[in-house]
Amino acid sequence: MSLSKELQKRRTFGIISHPDAGKTTLTEKLLLFGGAIQEAGAVKNNKIKKGATSDFMEIERQRGISVATSVLAFYYRDKKINILDTPGHKDFAEDTFRTLTAVDSVIVVIDVAKGVEEQTEKLVSVCRMRNIPMIVFINKLDREGKDAFDLLDEVEQKLGLTVTPMSFPIGMGYEFKGIYNLYEQNINLFSGNSKTNIEDTISITDLNDSILDQSVGEKSANDLRENLELVDGVYPSFDKEAYLSGELQPVFFGSALNNFGVRELLDCFIDIAPTPRPKKAEERLVNPQEEKLSGFVFKIHANMDPKHRDRLAFVKIVSGTFERNKPYFHTRIKKNLKFSSPNAFFAEKKEIIDISYPGDIVGLHDTGNFKIGDTLTEGEDLHYKGIPSFSPEHFRYINNADPMKSKQLEKGIDQLMDEGVAQLFTLELNGRKVIGTVGALQYEVIQYRLEHEYGAKCSYENFPIHKACWVDPENEKSEEFKEFKRVKAKFLAKDKKGQLVFLADSSFSLQMTQDKYKSVKLRFTSEKE
Ligand code: G4P
Repeated sequence: MSLSKELQKRRTFGIISHPDAGKTTLTEKLLLFGGAIQEAGAVKNNKIKKGATSDFMEIERQRGISVATSVLAFYYRDKKINILDTPGHKDFAEDTFRTLTAVDSVIVVIDVAKGVEEQTEKLVSVCRMRNIPMIVFINKLDREGKDAFDLLDEVEQKLGLTVTPMSFPIGMGYEFKGIYNLYEQNINLFSGNSKTNIEDTISITDLNDSILDQSVGEKSANDLRENLELVDGVYPSFDKEAYLSGELQPVFFGSALNNFGVRELLDCFIDIAPTPRPKKAEERLVNPQEEKLSGFVFKIHANMDPKHRDRLAFVKIVSGTFERNKPYFHTRIKKNLKFSSPNAFFAEKKEIIDISYPGDIVGLHDTGNFKIGDTLTEGEDLHYKGIPSFSPEHFRYINNADPMKSKQLEKGIDQLMDEGVAQLFTLELNGRKVIGTVGALQYEVIQYRLEHEYGAKCSYENFPIHKACWVDPENEKSEEFKEFKRVKAKFLAKDKKGQLVFLADSSFSLQMTQDKYKSVKLRFTSEKE
């Protein structure tokens, strides 16, 4: 089949939410619709249990499962759907940010009772920065929750979105009767008894039709008419172009657990969600239709088996076709590499594949050639822009706890940082190493993996740092910059790429430094805008 036909079939997206909003349940229901899994519960195990911070076996188990569920692909209505898994646990937020560089659109899940939560805000702001098309799914309508209009307001205000309801609930919680689908102009009736299925679907093109009153009762019918009038008056109507450019976000209501509103979401998603989008490289914009292959690494996963030190690098294909055993150019190390067993991912399994198309993810066995953000091409010197590093939230010195194993420790730290588990800073003054992470859980993961995969032991020491800022002087030779370096020597470090970083110990000292050294810009991300 031709490249353009394959392209038209692909939908690659991620589901994002605050933990517990229903991401896993929704993913599972989508897979059930696609026939990719046979029963509910199959994806469930993919969650880091709450409070599992000290359970190392749990961490290992999670890593194993998360390889299997990193990409969940299935076919639905002749479309190939790739769901890229994003960890909900906030300690793995960086992982999610990176995965967002590889999706073409996202579905945002919100709990009807809790509304917009912290993690959702962070993730959506990253999507907004990148103009990623978003669909919002308001979940758990079978429970009492916030008023639909209040929620839509909250979504607009807290997430900075412009919404257009594509469906509207008829009641909620105990009074939940069903959902009116504005996109298809029909009603799905909900039965509190069966709870597992849609009771009935009634096509209603004219809201004044008495069939509406017969189906949901007069009061609910009138409420719905009123609500829809308000929707019509207040919200812009759906515009596909606006959605695709990230300016308008369709909203669906439903209950993932009860399989309610999920098919509507999926059917609409298939129709409107973008096919693989062009992607910016430092050199130029690359179109998916281009015949020559290009792709980039957005995730690296270490082998679960400590005897095999190879890793799996996840590559998103941006343009052209990826073929097994064909040499591709690794633009950072300037080497040609061939892959004899690239993996494709399907729900719960991976298999060796001969050819992949834009939108697809291939898993490449790697013995240490790849870092996150690396680009593969057919010879062109392209470099895809990755997601910048953000300042970590936690900082600790890392010490060698077994002097006989310093080489192993060094190698282990190096490789774990390439995987993006955490960020490493080396202090300018004394060469001490500092590990910065998003959450405390990572320190345990690192310690455990260093020991089990590299045979090295480490200990940590607190380093009370408030924020890491990347230093960007207007003039490297200026007296001001020289003074900054002298006065702040104790707090200067290099990141893994050799960029200078200022480790501010409090928000006060950060503010003072910014005020005093005006020509030395302090950035909160590693990349210049
Ligand atoms: P997450 O991946 O976003 O963290 O959330 P997940 O799908 O695991 O859902 C979190 C909890 O919310 C689960 O309950 C799940 O069953 C429930 N849930 C998901 N969708 C709905 C819905 O539409 N209605 C209702 N009432 N509940 C829903 P749990 O008790 O934490 O887990 P479990 O014991 O059910 O596995």
